[in-house]
Amino acid sequence: MTVGLVPTMGYLHEGHASLVDKAVSMCDRVVASDFVNPTQFGPGEDLDSYPRDFDRDCALLEEHGCSMVFHPSVDEMYPDGGGKTATYVEILNDMPKQLCGKTRPIHFRGVCTVVSKLFNIVMPDKAFFGQKDAQQLAIIRRMVRDLSYGIEIVGCPIVREADGLAKSSRNTYLNPEERRAALVLSKAVFKGQEMAEQGEKDARKIVKEMTEMIEREPLAKIDYVSAVDGVTMEPVETITGTTLFAMAVYIGKTRLIDNFIVEVAK
Ligand code: PAJ
Repeated sequence: MTVGLVPTMGYLHEGHASLVDKAVSMCDRVVASDFVNPTQFGPGEDLDSYPRDFDRDCALLEEHGCSMVFHPSVDEMYPDGGGKTATYVEILNDMPKQLCGKTRPIHFRGVCTVVSKLFNIVMPDKAFFGQKDAQQLAIIRRMVRDLSYGIEIVGCPIVREADGLAKSSRNTYLNPEERRAALVLSKAVFKGQEMAEQGEKDARKIVKEMTEMIEREPLAKIDYVSAVDGVTMEPVETITGTTLFAMAVYIGKTRLIDNFIVEVAK
């Protein structure tokens, strides 16, 4: 019997549901975890205000054929109390320092630690992660390889709202004006994709065009817009192999991410 794991922080939407659907199609039993993980939030981040609705999450999971939901308390996951732990799983190369790691220096250490714990608790055959968090997916793949987990990591495409905005639990923070302004992320993604499809190989030109588009939106403040190698997360200037174009942009106080991947033969 194959067991699939879909790790989440809850407040589920169609993006999460697409992971469950994929897991149900590939596994005999699907376990979702629903846990807002304190170790991946830095000081001043939105740990306390992160949206939660466990009953609604359960309804969505059931509707999509999930067999079981793991919804531990903070103390159950971190017995030292206060969401603290003495033992972390951390990738020590530059992967977690690029992109989101620049403004969120402890984030990926927390993600790797909690995902390791979930792997040890659930012992799945396969685990499902969204391409929406492209750096997270690349880091988890690396962790699984380095620690010989023997779990198949399945990446799933980004699910978007009808107007293009990538679905995110954090979209709920946006007021109507910010919700409109947030469209600048997906518009920049589509523009970048179009340039790559038309044969542009200079990653810097694509990044420049995307950056200028976002800068024209008064409510948007860029954290980063970057082109990196899709596996190592090292910055690249030219599109070769798998290239990830990724961005993080503040819309008001809300930090949103989006990305796309370009694959070309090396
Ligand atoms: P969370 O943000 O809840 O996301 C859970 C999973 O859903 C991640 O793999 C994420 O990439 C995926 N996801 C979110 N929005 C998506 C979208 N629009 N389309 C496709 N997939 C989407 O990521 C986390 O939680 C946490 O870091 C976690 C891995 C659970 C560790 O705490």
